[in-house]
Amino acid sequence: MIVTPSDFSAWRDVYKIAAGSILPRPIAWVSTVNAAGTPNLAPFSFFTVASANPLTLMFTPLMTDDEGSLKDTPRNILETEEFVVNITNESTAAAMSRSAKAMAPGQSEFGYAQVTPAPSKFVKAPRVAEAPVSYECVLSQTIQVGNKHGSGLVIMGEVVAIHFADGIYDRETGYIDLELLQPIGRLSGSQYAHITDLFEIERG
Ligand SMILES: Cc1cc2nc3c(=O)[nH]c(=O)nc-3n(C[C@H](O)[C@H](O)[C@H](O)COP(=O)(O)O)c2cc1C
Repeated sequence: MIVTPSDFSAWRDVYKIAAGSILPRPIAWVSTVNAAGTPNLAPFSFFTVASANPLTLMFTPLMTDDEGSLKDTPRNILETEEFVVNITNESTAAAMSRSAKAMAPGQSEFGYAQVTPAPSKFVKAPRVAEAPVSYECVLSQTIQVGNKHGSGLVIMGEVVAIHFADGIYDRETGYIDLELLQPIGRLSGSQYAHITDLFEIERG
């Protein structure tokens, strides 16, 4: 079978093809503050590394209507030019999912998700104390891809500090302890994958 995006009248049907086949996806659990300082927390699985030097992360909040309205996270980032990407895992997955609840602007998801805001070193946005790894980021650029419901505002941020839970990172070997990290992957809808059944392939 072959389809083209223009075969579909609803953008959500095209989204479902991507969300159901481009997986498992990592999740950026993004904390921000608005100009008044109220914290906000939300997950985004359109997420990857944009550059290793300078270390830069990128994720994509989608617009919420045909006027190009933004979710609270990108709105806060455009106001403050800062954010934290927290990594979620097995022990924080339920809280991460709760934090996706749409709340009124100015209301914080930290309390609703039952996670603890901890101070960051360089940015005003708090990090999630329970997260195994948190990346403090300063906005470096945005790329707007369309201006309709479901269009993306790609957000890139240069990493200025990285926090690790005790024991996760070995500075001598440079390795992250996968068993302590307990990563998860997002599938489609409300399904997630454990990263436990590993295999190796010899390098070519
Ligand atoms: C695991 C997961 C991944 C998500 N990924 C995205 C994403 O990549 N882009 C997006 O716009 N929304 C995504 N969402 C939905 C947002 O988290 C949700 O709209 C949230 O309410 C936005 O919060 P905010 O308005 O506080 O920024 C995801 C939700 C979940 C549970």
